[in-house]
Amino acid sequence: MLKGNFPVEKFGALPTPFYYYDTSLLRQTLDTVKAEAGRYGYQVHYAVKANANPRILQLIAQAGLGADCVSGGEVRAALQAGFPPSHIVYAGVGKADWEINLGLDEDIFCFNVESLAELEVIDQLAARKGKTARVALRINPDVDAHTHAKITTGRKENKFGINLGMLDGVLDELQQMAHVELIGIHCHVGSQITDMSVFRNLAIRVNEIQDELEQRGIRVQNLNFGGGLGIDYYHPNHLPIPAFDNYFAVFKQLLEQRPGQQIHFEPGRSIVAQCGSLISRVLYVKQGEIKQFAILDAGFTELIRPAMYDAYHRIENLTSEEPVELYDIVGPICESSDVFGKDVELNCARRGDLVALRSAGAYGEVMASQYNCRPLPPSYFSDDM
Ligand code: LLP
Repeated sequence: MLKGNFPVEKFGALPTPFYYYDTSLLRQTLDTVKAEAGRYGYQVHYAVKANANPRILQLIAQAGLGADCVSGGEVRAALQAGFPPSHIVYAGVGKADWEINLGLDEDIFCFNVESLAELEVIDQLAARKGKTARVALRINPDVDAHTHAKITTGRKENKFGINLGMLDGVLDELQQMAHVELIGIHCHVGSQITDMSVFRNLAIRVNEIQDELEQRGIRVQNLNFGGGLGIDYYHPNHLPIPAFDNYFAVFKQLLEQRPGQQIHFEPGRSIVAQCGSLISRVLYVKQGEIKQFAILDAGFTELIRPAMYDAYHRIENLTSEEPVELYDIVGPICESSDVFGKDVELNCARRGDLVALRSAGAYGEVMASQYNCRPLPPSYFSDDM
């Protein structure tokens, strides 16, 4: 089977598990997203939550993207990596006072506000500083993302955003507030979306929302469509760069962009997923009565996506070309959910073999935990090898 391109001989000396990032693929992905968005003058803010490794953030900041943050910690990490405050947006349903104050002090571009209650607090905190906060209302557009239930965000029953039916009331209140300025509308409907009709529905829904706002005499300067573009977890070697051209074209075709209006996106996964792999060693091959297990030294502490979302990650044995066998590939954590894949085809595995869990650059390292008192995994970069 076709495997990824890894400096396996250099991996041999390194303790496992660790994250390995192909920085040249990351650069190519960044060049592509910039070129495709640039075609229409769209602005891209990388969603820091997907991967906040300082080196990765620096590369993305150097490429000239903005940053989409969901906590004060992410705002700090973005600033430290060199993202200019004027290109930082900050969303999240539960912004604490210190986080709002940090955004105000650093004069970030925009708070994406998720409730009236939050808007009131931002207004009060900005007033105390004698400032005006730029805000976009995060609207819950009730568009079904047809993706995993744990990662859809744009339905009425989700905790995110302001429901459409409540928008009028929020706008009434907002217009009374002296220390917030409405500069945009923000939407994000979900993640790992590969069906472009979801984005079509979103663009059409935002057209309707804009019409309604204009009936109230409100025209916003900025529209932010969030992130969500999916990647091909099954073929990381064939299609390492997502089809950003098709994605942006949907909005170009369907969105009724007003003159002077700026369009923003917040991709996370589509930028970083394919450049990262979790590299692990086979500790034991264990024969069960009906199954054969390959037990790795990485577990859900390093990559939680399979356990948490039943997510598929392609697994390759980097040190064996022997005939393929079927394995349940599991980690060492004391939980039966610590499984990376069942009945996985893998070149015959032996103790000490190096295995790559592919497409792990997004929501991999950043979601690692220290459960079972395990250390956090280190990271290595193709540039340095
Ligand atoms: N903007 C907002 C407001 C978001 O909530 C998210 C992701 C993004 C942008 C970036 O979405 P992306 O382009 O990466 O799909 N841990 C899950 C994914 C959670 C996504 C949360 N929000 C996973 O491992 O699949």
